[in-house]
Amino acid sequence: MNILRRKSFEDLMETTEEKKLTKALGAFDITLMGLGIIIGTGIFVLTGIGAAKYAGPGLMLSFVLAAVTCTFVCLAYSELASFLPVSGSSYTYAYASLGEVFGWWVGWSLILEYSVGASAVAGGWSAYFVGILHSCGIDLPKALTAVPAEGGLINLPAAFIVLVTTALLVIGVKESTRVNRILVYIKIGTIFVFLFLAAPHIEPANWQPFLPYGIHGVAAGTAVLFFAYLGFDALSTAAEETKNPKRDMPIGIIAALAICTILYIAVCAAMTGVVPYPLLDTAAPASFVLEYIGLHLGSAVVGTGAFCGLSTVVLCMLYAQSRALYSMSRDGLMPMSLYKVHPKFHTPYIIQIVVGILVACIAGFTPIHIVAETCSAGTIFAFLCSCVGILVLRRKYPDKPRGFRCPAVHVIAPLGFIFCAFVFSQLSWHTLVLFAIWSVLGLVIYLAYGYGHSTLNK
Ligand code: ALA
Repeated sequence: MNILRRKSFEDLMETTEEKKLTKALGAFDITLMGLGIIIGTGIFVLTGIGAAKYAGPGLMLSFVLAAVTCTFVCLAYSELASFLPVSGSSYTYAYASLGEVFGWWVGWSLILEYSVGASAVAGGWSAYFVGILHSCGIDLPKALTAVPAEGGLINLPAAFIVLVTTALLVIGVKESTRVNRILVYIKIGTIFVFLFLAAPHIEPANWQPFLPYGIHGVAAGTAVLFFAYLGFDALSTAAEETKNPKRDMPIGIIAALAICTILYIAVCAAMTGVVPYPLLDTAAPASFVLEYIGLHLGSAVVGTGAFCGLSTVVLCMLYAQSRALYSMSRDGLMPMSLYKVHPKFHTPYIIQIVVGILVACIAGFTPIHIVAETCSAGTIFAFLCSCVGILVLRRKYPDKPRGFRCPAVHVIAPLGFIFCAFVFSQLSWHTLVLFAIWSVLGLVIYLAYGYGHSTLNK
């Protein structure tokens, strides 16, 4: 039994779909795409909980720490994406570098990133949706808008947005660059409107004490907020469609990360500067802050912008999930029957519907910060494997061309690993327990099904 068998570079490149993708994307497109995928629940929802419960105004430092970690990792991803431009992202990289069982484990963890992540974003969407209805004088009963742990029965709007986006994906909604651009502009515009309205009301006294929960709080805040940066790894899959990946990929990914970091810190500074941090424990903090200073119209505008922006993140994540599962079933590790293409819509409708129903259930019944942390656990694990994988692939295939070579890889990859390991260690114990249970379950499924059905047996 060899659970560490690997897919060779040649095999992987052969399994790439026979499609010639147009090399149309430049650094600017990659940046916009990144902002489209990255900005979402992290900033519009988790900032409130992060400040109130974990780090206070020091949450700004949590954003910096998360950004530094992601910068190391994103340099590794830029190289991996240009070296292995096949679908599957981290799953494929781990399969090629660390072996099948790690590939499976990373793919299994990506379910946490995409499916569980989508439900966290849906929870954020629901909070803004309820807020908008409230501004229009309509109050939905708490039983239908809160999960059981928060005193309700079901978060119906969260389940609803998941099912609607699933239906759109089944009938074949394509992420067109134009639609994406418009939504990104709306999202960024919303953030600027928020900053413009909130900044004059900042009371520096609210930033004192800056570290009410100490440095430990900053580190714990980083673990919660890491979610805000997720998405740039999915960006690496666009390497094949980039005009000059060597130049455009790193510029695009790093520019997107830099812009997000600046916006995140500015929003966090404004939120904690306007409202005393203990009051920020709300799922729609951007609207709440403007309500707090009496700007009801501004609150409604920002709430609507956040609501639009969050819809696209749910869509992107559900889409990414079906692609990741597609790669796994193509390799035989998941049942191939899951990847049936609809005769009319040409979409993987079975897997999309299964994913949609499961995600809707998670979104309807689980508290958002628990979901978001679990999602971060899965993603950080995938990042850890990629930081090791890049070094293995450099050693194994030293001469194969790479569109982009990570500079000083022997420093950057280990730093990425150390920072990720640190953030991972800061996750709450119940998240780590959930991740461990999830991993053991995955391993059992791999041994019972995946190993025997893997295409590597043929
Ligand atoms: N980074 C994405 C968000 O914050 C996942 O919603």
